Amino acid sequence: MQATAWWQRGIIYEVYPRSFQDTNNDGIGDLAGILTRLDYLVELGVDVLWVAPIYPSPMEDFGYDISDYCGIDGRFGTLADFDELLKAVLERDLKLILAFVPNHTSNKHPWFLESRSSRENSKRDWYLWRDASEDGGPPNNWLSNFGGSGWEWDATTKQYYYHSFLKQQPDVNWRNPSLREAMFDVLRFWLDRGVDGFRVDVMWLLFKDEQFRNNPINPAGHENSPASQRLLPIFNADRPEIHGLVASMRSVLDSYGERLLLGEIYLPINQLVLYYGKDLTGASLPFNFQLIQCAWRADAIAQIIREYEAALPPGAWPNWVLGNHDQARISSRVGAEQARVAAMLLLTLRGTPTIYYGEEIGMRNVMIPPQEVQDPAEKNQPGFGLGRDPERTPMSWDSSRSAGFTEGKPWLPLGEDYPTRNVVNLSCQRDSILTLYRKLIRLRRSNEALISGRLKGVVANGNVLRYERSDDVKHFTILLNLGHEQEEISLEGGRVVVSTYLDREDYLFERNISLRPSEGLIVNLR
Ligand code: GLC
Ligand code: CA
Repeated sequence: MQATAWWQRGIIYEVYPRSFQDTNNDGIGDLAGILTRLDYLVELGVDVLWVAPIYPSPMEDFGYDISDYCGIDGRFGTLADFDELLKAVLERDLKLILAFVPNHTSNKHPWFLESRSSRENSKRDWYLWRDASEDGGPPNNWLSNFGGSGWEWDATTKQYYYHSFLKQQPDVNWRNPSLREAMFDVLRFWLDRGVDGFRVDVMWLLFKDEQFRNNPINPAGHENSPASQRLLPIFNADRPEIHGLVASMRSVLDSYGERLLLGEIYLPINQLVLYYGKDLTGASLPFNFQLIQCAWRADAIAQIIREYEAALPPGAWPNWVLGNHDQARISSRVGAEQARVAAMLLLTLRGTPTIYYGEEIGMRNVMIPPQEVQDPAEKNQPGFGLGRDPERTPMSWDSSRSAGFTEGKPWLPLGEDYPTRNVVNLSCQRDSILTLYRKLIRLRRSNEALISGRLKGVVANGNVLRYERSDDVKHFTILLNLGHEQEEISLEGGRVVVSTYLDREDYLFERNISLRPSEGLIVNLR
């Protein structure tokens, strides 16, 4: 299938703006900082810049609690800074996509202030207000993803409101037509300014059961599970009404030309692919988090690739991702050697790859001392490893104090390894992970077989994952050793295009080839 749209051909790069580049030395990254690093992204070879929320926010959930959808938070800059950034992005032939957080606002958003002011207010119905149950407690058993009941009592108007996340993040009511229009106007506001699309936050949570029925107990939950995982989210997630809404979002975007609707969706494959919508009128790319969730074994990965490919509706374009601002960094999850194998996997699979900032230099999770914890997910349910600060630490640019990220005190600590693991240092090393990323990206960009080509023969042989990418011009065999021992592979003979060790390009082999521990190879067979 020929990839024609830019979001099918390109590579997405996620920037977590607080941690990318600070320019005014308050220790928090900003828009002017992203601007100064655009040429780095061009040189890396990525195409689409996805920037996490930059809107005015009390920062209870670091920007995912928005108090004004159409402004820029002073910590990140101004609307003028934004326009300048967008202009610079477009001048470099890059694309810019923004965060759209439509499930909830901040409790400081004027909409919510109005809504909670009285039961008669015209925006009362823009949020999910319910009476107490008969015993005076919450209306039902729905939980917050950040722990505890999802319901918060409002003493003034004597009702509860629902929040899927913090109580400072009240959920909106998508059944209300004027809320819906107001939200679509937000999309238009940014599309009119020239953005290329949106990453939609928690797309699968936007609708809740109209009857507010109780969720059943999660049979897989146990005493030691975090409270937020003890029920099955049957009635407050992945409701059937969602697909109509996603299609209407898509049509707002489509009226601006080729735009990207990227949905954050944590669901099993069969439910996930429904978000492409009827006749592909839903999300352009429902995020595929399978590589984040599956065991790091050749057989497990081969299986999810096959299942995912088989489940895709006709014409649907795949996508793959190794990490994001909510997930442990790949290098910590699988180790530094396997992170290189993961890079080769990500950049040779069929479908749009997304790179999380710092992955390309092998950044690792950073241990956060208890007194420096910032993330409410950790503060509210400590000790379960739910905190996301470790994967949100500042980008390591160079070996100067504070890694070239700031001259002030960074909002989260730097990784101890930053004096060596940084962009400047790794750029000079011919076998570094950064050099590997650059090489793989260049190879992908210059070979249609790796973009539009067929994906075939996905198999696991012991620890080795193998597959083929080809078009009428080129044929690549990809061999990935997911294990820590040497593996012998019998092949017809051919030529090594890239090894993750970066030391045997153009190596010719006859019949057999051995893969060193954690080695990945792209080969041309004879
Ligand atoms: C999404 C975001 C996460 C945020 C949550 C609530 O999962 O990726 O960072 O905390 O939504 O908005
Ligand atoms: Ca700053």
